Amino acid sequence: MQEATLEAPSQITRPMPTQRYAKCIEASKRIRWDIDRDVIRGRQFDFDKKFLPDGLSKVNELSFLRPGEMRFLSQIQGRTYANIFGLVERFIAAKVLEVSRDHGLGDQNALEALVRFADEEIKHQELFRRIERMCAGGMPEGYTFLPEPNAVASAVLAKSTWAVLALTCHIELFVLAHYRESIGTEADVSELWKDVFLFHWKEESQHAILDELEWRREHARLNEGERDLGVTDLIELVAAVDGILQMQAQADAGYFVLRAGPTYSASEQTAIHHVLLKAYRWQYIVSGVKEPRFVEVLKALVTPAQMDRIGKALSPILQNVGG
Ligand SMILES: [Fe+2]
Ligand SMILES: [Fe+2]
Repeated sequence: MQEATLEAPSQITRPMPTQRYAKCIEASKRIRWDIDRDVIRGRQFDFDKKFLPDGLSKVNELSFLRPGEMRFLSQIQGRTYANIFGLVERFIAAKVLEVSRDHGLGDQNALEALVRFADEEIKHQELFRRIERMCAGGMPEGYTFLPEPNAVASAVLAKSTWAVLALTCHIELFVLAHYRESIGTEADVSELWKDVFLFHWKEESQHAILDELEWRREHARLNEGERDLGVTDLIELVAAVDGILQMQAQADAGYFVLRAGPTYSASEQTAIHHVLLKAYRWQYIVSGVKEPRFVEVLKALVTPAQMDRIGKALSPILQNVGG
């Protein structure tokens, strides 16, 4: 648990992190899974079931939709959900390999834990490409996932390591929260879709621990000015994520309106677009920002003035989501 790492960075001692890296290696070896043998097992998606559960998709806020339309909207969001992870894992794997080099001639537990982390993210990207192909085979034509993984990764990796590790920690903590609070518990969700995120969650549990260790290690290395630049970069990264969400919410709303069946009025179309954007902001920004484990680490690493800057930048998004 994280109490062990709540001390100020200057007090972090070598033995504790190396034991935590070792525990991640042990867990990673124990739960290691294979895409076909363990996750897909020759199955296809059941398109009579929802993909993304209501707690994440917010489709039940669109009361004029019939059950089949709500289900289709949850499947579109589920398809985008898998594509978003495939996207972010491109830059996460590259950054993790980069920071692992710091441990090359040092802590061999850290090195192995991070190499396994990167290897798992490369496997997850392959899993999510499979999911996209399976969704494409069972859903009507016209869906597009707009952001391009390498273009996004290049932009993200141009920012400071402090900011990239903070964003990564945020992402991997909301992955855990989504599974724990919605995906694993809601009924009427496609069994295969649920299993994909069960197996993903198992490996992400170690990633979230390693993100925190590496973020704190990077923080300890930086001076005040560099940390402040990290905060600025993090704010810019969150704005860039929001830009991607706005673009994809519009694309997904357009696809839904085109393929769901009924002709929706202009006000209904606007409502569909607004709920999608709100749901995406909840899924990829706000649910992570509200995650206590993330707040705890962030508070330990930033000054009150920096926290204030982050809060002001997030305020319009939080207000939109009603959080
Ligand atoms: Fe992953
Ligand atoms: Fe991960």
